[in-house]
Amino acid sequence: MGSSKAPCSVLLVFVFGLCTLYRCSAVEVDADQTAWLVVNASEASARKMPKHLFGLFFEEINHAGSGGLWAELVSNRGFESGGRILPSSIAPWSTLGDESSISVSTDLSSSFERNKVALRMEVLCDSKGTNICPAGGVGVYNPGFWGMNIEQGKTYKLVLHIRSLEPVNLLVSLTDSHGLQALSNVSIMADDVSKWTKVEALLDAKRTNHNSRLQLTTTRKGVIWFDQVSLMPLDTYKGHGFRNDLFKLLADLKPGFLRFPGGCFVEGEWLRNAFRWKETIGPWEERPGHFGDVWNYWTDDGLGHFEFLQLAEDLGAEPIWVFNNGILCIVSLSYLKLNAFIRKSISFHLPFMKSTGISHNDEVDSSNILPFVQEILDGIEFARGDPDSTWGSVRAAMGHPEPFVLRYVAIGNEDCGKPNYLGSIVQNQLQTHSELFSGAGNYLKFYSAIRRAYPDIKLISNCDGSSHPLDHPADFYEYHPYQNSNTMFSLARYFDHAPRNGPKVW
Ligand SMILES: *[C@@H]1O[C@H](CO)[C@@H](O)[C@H](O)[C@H]1NC(C)=O
Ligand SMILES: *[C@@H]1O[C@H](CO)[C@@H](O)[C@H](O)[C@H]1NC(C)=O
Repeated sequence: MGSSKAPCSVLLVFVFGLCTLYRCSAVEVDADQTAWLVVNASEASARKMPKHLFGLFFEEINHAGSGGLWAELVSNRGFESGGRILPSSIAPWSTLGDESSISVSTDLSSSFERNKVALRMEVLCDSKGTNICPAGGVGVYNPGFWGMNIEQGKTYKLVLHIRSLEPVNLLVSLTDSHGLQALSNVSIMADDVSKWTKVEALLDAKRTNHNSRLQLTTTRKGVIWFDQVSLMPLDTYKGHGFRNDLFKLLADLKPGFLRFPGGCFVEGEWLRNAFRWKETIGPWEERPGHFGDVWNYWTDDGLGHFEFLQLAEDLGAEPIWVFNNGILCIVSLSYLKLNAFIRKSISFHLPFMKSTGISHNDEVDSSNILPFVQEILDGIEFARGDPDSTWGSVRAAMGHPEPFVLRYVAIGNEDCGKPNYLGSIVQNQLQTHSELFSGAGNYLKFYSAIRRAYPDIKLISNCDGSSHPLDHPADFYEYHPYQNSNTMFSLARYFDHAPRNGPKVW
């Protein structure tokens, strides 16, 4: 839309045969009369539609990313989904073989510092001797996200990390959901994997099965450790890891913007379970992953900060990064105001402060928010800093030396009204600049720091300015109605009455 000039300058005339069938209440016309509706579509009378009127609000919810747009087929690829406690949950991995032939457990022997859990598979049977392994071998399998979609003629890239004190002879296969019919297989034989070893292989699918699984089996006695097992189709969009079919659905919407990575996913019900961008960059094997406790599932964060920026670029959409401002998703009975920097307590599945009687969610006090502000400044530098800047160099190392576009950021998600968002100063309508720095809430700490470092970046507030002007500085404000279509239509003229000066709605 928008670019073609010629069709716009013609005068469009629509002829409507009105009221031939229905009683017409608006205009009194006879059945044989013709009513004319003249639409002046000349360029001079046109009002340009803003480029960013329609776009995508992407959230990692209902597996939109993990198990969805992100093409990784293995679910819980690092065996971390139970957190860093032992035994960790290996679901949806399962074992093949009975107790007399195989035993699996988790330990913390991984070579990856931020995700120490590895799977230890002890094979008790052998190809000779008294305890002979069953014909297909024993091992483990992963059904992916409710079955892997494996398509004939396509190639899938397997990457896994293994360690064993004995030589290994593994059969990697893609099979139907019962493990009976092989769609593809490849053998991995290695004499010395006594240190953690990265193994890569390509699997060509000989058949199609929409409900497949990945099996790792052997008939050799011994102990093998596995970690970070990944299977991805080779044909992702531009090789960037997005499923082609789902990418096309998004692209066909011609989104003007991409707001990411969520929603409440940004915040978490507990801060330790929030999306923190620094945990989602770099080599995928080294990303710790996290439990998205608002929507209740584990993500390995293969779709991380870099990939979201890449997605916006690939879609030709304006990225809007929504970041955590130290505030949690759910408004609970009592808010905590912890005076210690909460980041320290970010570890998994701690029975968080139960003994003190504090049982609801945490929120970072504005006096302790500076590390969070720095984290976001770093995230902006990651996106658009020079390749030789501290964080720009990390982006460059990930294969994108040119800066990404990043012109809009949203300070939190739906946090307006939570105690630490604006703080008391703003609520009392104090507006001088020095006051903004003293007792202000989290919002203004982020606002002033980002404005200072990146004057061109547009800052989006969570507070609704549609019925009265905002009492704090912002370039835009968000308005998030969750309504059925009738209510949406009834709101068609809602913004006719919104304040005309001050920030506009995003
Ligand atoms: C259409 O609108 C333009 C701009 O308002 C005006 O100049 C032009 O005369 C209009 N044309 C007709 C046919 O009314
Ligand atoms: C492995 O693949 C080959 C070639 O497609 C096939 O002949 C063989 O039966 C497969 N082996 C197993 C154990 O599935």
